[in-house]
Amino acid sequence: GIPKLHEVLQGCFDIGAAVNPRTIARSGELIAYHYNSLTAENEMKFASLHPSEEEYTFEEADRIADFARSKGMRMRGHTLVWHNQTPDWLFQDRNGGLVGRGELFARMKSHIDTVVKRYKNSVYCWDVVNEVIADEGDELLRQSKWTAIAGEDFISKAFEYAHEADPNALLFYNDYNESHPIKREKIYALVKSLRERDVPIHGVGLQAHWNLYDPGLDDIRSAIERYASLGLKLHVTELDVSMFEFGDRRTDLTEPTERMIELQIERYAQIFKLFREYKDVIDAVTFWGAADDYTWLDDFPVRGRKNWPLLFDEKHRPKPSFWKVVEGA
Ligand code: G3I
Repeated sequence: GIPKLHEVLQGCFDIGAAVNPRTIARSGELIAYHYNSLTAENEMKFASLHPSEEEYTFEEADRIADFARSKGMRMRGHTLVWHNQTPDWLFQDRNGGLVGRGELFARMKSHIDTVVKRYKNSVYCWDVVNEVIADEGDELLRQSKWTAIAGEDFISKAFEYAHEADPNALLFYNDYNESHPIKREKIYALVKSLRERDVPIHGVGLQAHWNLYDPGLDDIRSAIERYASLGLKLHVTELDVSMFEFGDRRTDLTEPTERMIELQIERYAQIFKLFREYKDVIDAVTFWGAADDYTWLDDFPVRGRKNWPLLFDEKHRPKPSFWKVVEGA
């Protein structure tokens, strides 16, 4: 039989997949077989759970949590505070202007308290704050409604509120381009300053939305070491290896060449070799999807361009990359 990926890597790290109600319906068997951890791809985000101030919509998130529980899988919670998929009402006052800082914190606290408590028996860790670091320029933080209203204090408050809601939950800062040297240093600086102020943070999430070439293995290694030097847990939270480069203007390229397919196999082998070297600091590796029949990359950066970034093909069969990862373990 086919080895179970999470069993192959048992003793190294949990193996997770991001799922949604469609992929659970379509790939439930594959998901329960190879993965021992789940993340809701969209269903636990602010806009999904809390579309208006008086209304919570838990049905889809509950179904994913029920599935995880019925299969004995752990869950990572994603995400409490983000600039994206967050409803406008959160930032608005009665007249449609920006709400005041005190009121924003009160709303954030109420949301975090409700959501973290509801899932405390399913979710063992939360991406509390997601993607607040600026990609470009000297600025530390991305400009958003959060920063416009509350400066940078919303970050520490989010961790404090999450910790109060569930003192047992492991709390993460999560970001992409995490291995880029400049952004790496900014993420490091933010997390270090949170630690120095005794903010309850327990880990750094490396999203790991990578492609065939970028980031280089040396940059990935440096990022792992830099974050680990803070004495925190590391989770790889959203791993995929796109066949195409982000920002690739060659939209005529819609199929990978033989060479690209080979490169992806080699890349997966190298990535997991590196992860295993750091198994003492990396506790979980989550893929941003379960199999190549559905991935967010089918619509990014080019809408409708199919991609094949995962370890299982469109028919849920293990790809050569899967066997390379298994062989290396
Ligand atoms: O819900 C609507 C649906 O009603 C409509 O028919 C459909 C038409 O396109 O769109 C649906 O919304 C989409 C939503 O996913 C649910 O499928 C949005 O357009 C689409 O933008 C949204 O994309 C999600 C993206 O986050 C939004 O930023 C992706 O599925 C999700 O994989 C992605 O995940 C993020 C992580 O949370 C954070 N890190 C990066 C990662 C990849 O972007």
